[in-house]
Amino acid sequence: MKIASVKGFHDVLPGESARWARLEQCAREVFRRYRFREIRIPIVERTELFQRSIGDTTDIVEKEMYTFTDLDGSALTLRPEGTASVVRAYVEHSWWLQEAVAKWFYLGPMFRRERPQKGRSRQFHQIGAEVLGREDAAIDAEVLMLLHDLLSAFGLPAFSLELNSLGDGQCRPAYRDHLRRYGEEHEKDLCENCRRRLERNPLRLLDCKMASCRHVMACAPVMLDHLCAGCRQHFDQVCRLLDQMKVPYHLQPRMVRGLDYYVRTAFEVTAPGLGAQNAVGGGGRYDTLVRELGGPEVPGIGFALGVERLLLALGSGAPALEERPDLLILPVDSAGQMQALQLAQRWRQQGLSIDVGTSERSLKSQMRAADKQGVRVVAIIGEAEREAGAATVRDMVGKRDLPQAVPFDWSGEQLRAFLAGLGTGQSAVSF
Ligand code: HAM
Repeated sequence: MKIASVKGFHDVLPGESARWARLEQCAREVFRRYRFREIRIPIVERTELFQRSIGDTTDIVEKEMYTFTDLDGSALTLRPEGTASVVRAYVEHSWWLQEAVAKWFYLGPMFRRERPQKGRSRQFHQIGAEVLGREDAAIDAEVLMLLHDLLSAFGLPAFSLELNSLGDGQCRPAYRDHLRRYGEEHEKDLCENCRRRLERNPLRLLDCKMASCRHVMACAPVMLDHLCAGCRQHFDQVCRLLDQMKVPYHLQPRMVRGLDYYVRTAFEVTAPGLGAQNAVGGGGRYDTLVRELGGPEVPGIGFALGVERLLLALGSGAPALEERPDLLILPVDSAGQMQALQLAQRWRQQGLSIDVGTSERSLKSQMRAADKQGVRVVAIIGEAEREAGAATVRDMVGKRDLPQAVPFDWSGEQLRAFLAGLGTGQSAVSF
């Protein structure tokens, strides 16, 4: 009996994986320019970490975490996001003693038990960035510039940055009371979930997808009208800097995030063509998280992009990555096979990508397979070639042998120059 993959967990097959690698490579290059360094965080953390950081009344913690009990009785969870782990690592390694400002990025899988649909899976991947140790508006602007530059570098044709301020410990409690009162006035029109959340976390009401709740919340008071002086000034400065740097954004006063650790600046990036799951990324400031996880008073800000959604938004119409080998060597007999492996070993060591066929199959069938893969030149090694000390080169497109053979003693450099001269090298990569 066949064993299928788990619902919401997907393979990234060769071909598609090349698009992923290219996206990650592109992200790494942008992070380098912004001087962010990579952190690799564990897949599994103590459940308590996410309960304390993301928040007990969020969808993620309430119903989407993959949690299990380890043999020693401890509650563990597959990470649903990266920020909590990054901050846990920052605190665990007392990183503030190493650097006043830490600028880190991470790439990797996250797990949320959501209902799978287009752009939403249970294992998905994020490219994330976090800055720990700066609370000024200039770093908010710089993080948003980084986000903008990443999306531009990926070639995302259209995206929109939605910006809001969620206030802080000083102004949000009063706003929360306003919102609770508003919700109570309209309680009969709210869904059961929102009614339940009204008491503990009324901000979540702004996030509800139910039509009746959305209708009610469309006229709810907004945080931007209730910011304290400090938050107002911070937000105005962020907007001013973005204007100056010509980073386009839209104010979205009813945007709240699905995680509870945010204060002040919060944002999402949406892209067209993704249907209901149109957020390719999101983030914001989390100034109390380090302290809540046992560290000192260190502010933080960051974001994460969803790789699957990015690739969807970039479009399947984009040309696939060309993955032809520099050269395919086809042995005609077993002595040719040995020779082919020796040549492949040397030329691979010198940086060329080489495929080797098998003399177990006829030359004709090997060539047919090569044709199917779109290989443009092959080097053939049979008895005559071994005697001559050079492989016959066949142009698979023109369907003819070339006058120039490839001597066995050529260096990788010579082979590369020869192949470049044929103009059959790999063409430009694209997502
Ligand atoms: P988030 O908004 O929960 O934020 O996730 C960020 C992005 O991950 C989303 O915009 C979406 O593209 C992608 N994503 C989330 N869930 C799924 C899913 N089930 N399937 C596919 N893609 C998904 C965070 O995770 C925060 N840690 C971001 C952050 C970093 N805030 C500060 N620093």
